[in-house]
Amino acid sequence: TVTSVQGREVLDSRGNPTVEAEVRLSNGVAAHALVPSGASTGSHEAVELRDEDPASFGGRGVRRAVANVNDVIGPWLAGRSPLEQASIDEGMCVLDGTPNKGRLGANAILAVSLAVSHAAAASEGVSLWRYLAADGRVSLPVPMFNILNGGRHASNSADIQEFMVLPVGVDTFSDALRAGAEIYQSLRSLLRADGHNLNVGDEGGFAPSLPSNRDALEMVLRAVEAAGYAPGREVYLGLDVAATEFYDEASGKYVLDREGATLDSGELIDLYEDWAGQYPIISIEDGLSEDDWAGWSAMRDRLGATVQLVGDDLLVTNISRIGRSIRELASNAVLLKPNQIGTLTETRAALDTARTAGWGAVMSHRSGETEDTTIADLSVGWDVRQIKTGAPARSERVAKYNRLLRIEAELGNAAAYAGKSAFEYLGR
Ligand code: PGA
Ligand code: ZN
Repeated sequence: TVTSVQGREVLDSRGNPTVEAEVRLSNGVAAHALVPSGASTGSHEAVELRDEDPASFGGRGVRRAVANVNDVIGPWLAGRSPLEQASIDEGMCVLDGTPNKGRLGANAILAVSLAVSHAAAASEGVSLWRYLAADGRVSLPVPMFNILNGGRHASNSADIQEFMVLPVGVDTFSDALRAGAEIYQSLRSLLRADGHNLNVGDEGGFAPSLPSNRDALEMVLRAVEAAGYAPGREVYLGLDVAATEFYDEASGKYVLDREGATLDSGELIDLYEDWAGQYPIISIEDGLSEDDWAGWSAMRDRLGATVQLVGDDLLVTNISRIGRSIRELASNAVLLKPNQIGTLTETRAALDTARTAGWGAVMSHRSGETEDTTIADLSVGWDVRQIKTGAPARSERVAKYNRLLRIEAELGNAAAYAGKSAFEYLGR
């Protein structure tokens, strides 16, 4: 049983404070987890509790959340079995008492929720992925490498937040990681040859100042070819547009600075259709804004038969928003960010809800990350089949990829790479 819970204010990859929780058990096991933090956060996400005290970390401190771990959640958790994940998660939601975890903070609750799962797995003497899989099917996910960063994650770069490469058609996860790393290095060489700066954004991808979003797509495609991979067969492209960030509420239009264009939903979908016809794009995340439901339905109607349309800000890992999207035929895939909803159990419920509709799913990091690698284990143990955890560069991103290499080795001959099966639901 749990004997103590210790919260701590630690730092994330942007140098901002975040919450760590350590759970200790009566059998001597100790396990900890750290929560990430977003920059392009959706307005429907669970609350990330910050101190708003200008005297500490410019208001971004998390001492109140840490105090909630130590003084509220910890005493309540003491004496419980870490194997009771669902009832612990539900209990913390009750303890919080708000619909959006606004009292204790989703950052406080998630840190404990994840630490509990690690403690449970350690007690059982198995890896977290294996503990989570129980008797279910497991797979190594297709990595979506964000090799070119824009939007909120890089100043002076593209409007589109993420340009990704997906090595769908290779045989193993290690081959996929090698492909991602080689393409990343070839992009670096191409950018250098063209005289661009080689600085990187929050998720480790390059952040050149290119004239247009299409130029960024072109550059990424050239990098795939230069690294010797076949576009549209071995490697596909993906975008996270993060369109909520450039949606203008007042006019109801999307303002693309790089294109010098102000577009309505229909015109933005035209642009995607155009790109999808010219480039091997298999996935578009947040192509439209978080509350543009009618636009999403139109987008799915026009692109959804062949392109994965992932809801991030749209769905915020929340089963009621996923339910609405299923009913309105809005997205056809879910992004799973545990800190958008605040517990492991609710993250799993989001995946299960999406699966009942035959959707695709992607396990995801945040732009502000840590050395915590829990999402790697979740992606395997829950057979999610895709993971988005940044460029194959910067240790807070690479930590997840390296964790997946270890899991692949642990699985040995049973290490099935999801590959094309991740997109079977699209029928492509
Ligand atoms: P965020 O970005 O973590 O800054 O929200 C990631 C994403 O939009 O997928
Ligand atoms: Zn996103």
